[in-house]
Amino acid sequence: MKLIFSRFGGKFKKSKEIISHFTNHKIYVECFLGSGAIFLNKDSSELSVLNDLDPLIYNIFKGAKENYEIFDNTEWDWKPNKEKWIQFKKDLSNGDTDLYKSIYIIYHSWSGLGSNFTATRWGDNYNYKRVLSDYIEKFKNTEIHKKDYLDIIDKYDSEDTLFYLDPPYDVALKKNYYEYQGGINFIEMRDKLKNIKGKFFLSLDITPLTTEIFKEFNLNEIIFKYDTRKHNKIVKEYLITNI
Ligand SMILES: C[S@@+](CC[C@H](N)C(=O)[O-])C[C@H]1O[C@@H](n2cnc3c(N)ncnc32)[C@H](O)[C@@H]1O
Repeated sequence: MKLIFSRFGGKFKKSKEIISHFTNHKIYVECFLGSGAIFLNKDSSELSVLNDLDPLIYNIFKGAKENYEIFDNTEWDWKPNKEKWIQFKKDLSNGDTDLYKSIYIIYHSWSGLGSNFTATRWGDNYNYKRVLSDYIEKFKNTEIHKKDYLDIIDKYDSEDTLFYLDPPYDVALKKNYYEYQGGINFIEMRDKLKNIKGKFFLSLDITPLTTEIFKEFNLNEIIFKYDTRKHNKIVKEYLITNI
């Protein structure tokens, strides 16, 4: 499915490969949802749990699930405007959860991260193209949360659960890319994953730190090939699992 929005670190191009490794499960839990590229492209489960600490992500997925009708039936103004963007940011930090404002902030921000204003330009065409009612079926049997991933693992762990974790990578943590990254510590993550009843798949960059910390699990190396007009790019990443 098309994404509602895209952002830095998104797994859209890698989704097919990652999903092909998933095993049977009843409950699917995506701990670090971002743009939701994996959830939107995998088959639905009896229950899907969608979680991200970033309020913008929560507002958009919750809003798309519950308020799609109002959203789809309104003509919104998508032209980039810095003052408006700053005002929307203030409104949201004061507790506003508005869907349009949340999408507007992500759209006109650097790499879709919602932290700094960057005008997205589409010539004169500022019509937002997503029809949220297209996602009605996909959002059936979902629960949406804005919690630290450790709380989500505790709440939904079971023998029928498959967790997919796509945290900020080692390199992204060092550069503080994400506004909300809740003190992620890879040792704490490993220790939590060591003791779960469910299965997990964890995407991470291949660095000396990640290799050392997660060495007790299966460290699958996944190769992604991107063919662009200019060059062919090959990226290797971990898909770490307890299977
Ligand atoms: C690499 S991105 C996920 C990308 C996603 N798979 C996609 O396809 O777009 C990491 C996400 O983790 C979220 N995040 C960071 N720390 C978190 C935490 N402690 N608990 C839950 N989510 C967190 C960030 O807000 C960010 O959206």
